[in-house]
Amino acid sequence: MFNIHTLTRFQQLETPFYYYDLNLLGKTLESCSAASAKYNFHVHYAMKANFNPKVLELVQSHGFGADCVSGGEVKAAIQYGFDKSKIVFAGVGKSDKEINEALDRDIFCFNVESVQELGIINNLAKAKNKMASVAIRINPNVDAHTHHFITTGLEENKFGVNTWELPAVVDALKKCDSLEFLGIHFHIGSQITDMEVYKNLCIKVNELQQWFLDNGLAIKVLNLGGGLGVDYHNPDENPIGDFESYFKVFHDNLDIKPNQEVHFELGRAFVAQSASLISRVLYVKNGINKNFLILDAGMTELIRPMLYQAYHEIENLSAAGRIENQESRIKNEEKNILTLDSGLFTRTKYDVVGPICESTDCFRKDVELPESFRGDLIVIRTAGAYGEVMASGYNLRDRVTSVYSE
Ligand code: LLP
Repeated sequence: MFNIHTLTRFQQLETPFYYYDLNLLGKTLESCSAASAKYNFHVHYAMKANFNPKVLELVQSHGFGADCVSGGEVKAAIQYGFDKSKIVFAGVGKSDKEINEALDRDIFCFNVESVQELGIINNLAKAKNKMASVAIRINPNVDAHTHHFITTGLEENKFGVNTWELPAVVDALKKCDSLEFLGIHFHIGSQITDMEVYKNLCIKVNELQQWFLDNGLAIKVLNLGGGLGVDYHNPDENPIGDFESYFKVFHDNLDIKPNQEVHFELGRAFVAQSASLISRVLYVKNGINKNFLILDAGMTELIRPMLYQAYHEIENLSAAGRIENQESRIKNEEKNILTLDSGLFTRTKYDVVGPICESTDCFRKDVELPESFRGDLIVIRTAGAYGEVMASGYNLRDRVTSVYSE
């Protein structure tokens, strides 16, 4: 992905920063549009994955809706031109202020996560003399087979209404005259790459849809949430997620009624591969039986490895440049006979760590890299989703900046 030209550009920049490949992001969005259009599916971008202004502008320009989880996200979605009739608002703890602001903005739908919340939205809408459109987020108790911390659809999780509470939901909906019931919503977890998981979700959704019909409530909207995973191990081989298989599994397994709308909320699969975190080696330090590469980026810039034991590819861009220079030198010297022998370039195992005063501030242990030196540029790949947006001001560090492909 990176070449000598990028290396030269990066060498002149202050680190750490997020580097966005907007061309790849554009291609990813086109791929998702094409795959979803086949079945007339509606896709909302889960803004929580990345709300960098350039990302929002590009996603919005492709006509996607927005999936928001706070009043701030709803506000930003409107500000960046997302059509309010394509904005959904989820979240297990929406405050009265957030609900009121979303009502004022006439968003498409509230994804409601408890019986109590239904009553609150009804009262707030009534006070404004408005109707609020709602979908019920149901916890389907389907295992997403993903990291424990990013599973959301099990009974042990705080999200959504449990199936045994559904009779109470129907009662509440019948009483709440300022609510319009649109349908049902699910989101079982993130970084899901096994399509069987979605097949299991479809089976559950079909059963629940039937239950609502039997209880006298028609469903206009089926919202299946997001969760499609990306290839963190091979970003160059698989730069774009498998939208085709993802939408097909729903098309093949969901019991879609005539005139029913099917909605999705994808975050990670839109943006993960289109950004990398670029940092410099500050120090190379020897430990007991190991070496540390101490970077100028840490958990304050990208917390995923520390929080979810997430894997990210780590590359030494400067070493790649040295190797390429050496290659061309050998090539010249030996009159076009390229004899690059990887033995020429020592590879060493490093624990790649950040500068933060926490032992957990480690991107990965035992990373095999070419011999690395102070000042080398280190690239942490697939950092576009839940990267920049989860950066923090811990240790009062400077806020990480962003750089874009030319
Ligand atoms: N819809 C709802 C209701 C969600 O809670 C989420 C993500 C999405 C859609 C989008 O899911 P995606 O397509 O991005 O998987 N910070 C974690 C991931 C947290 C996901 C939170 N919810 C990480 O870095 O892995």
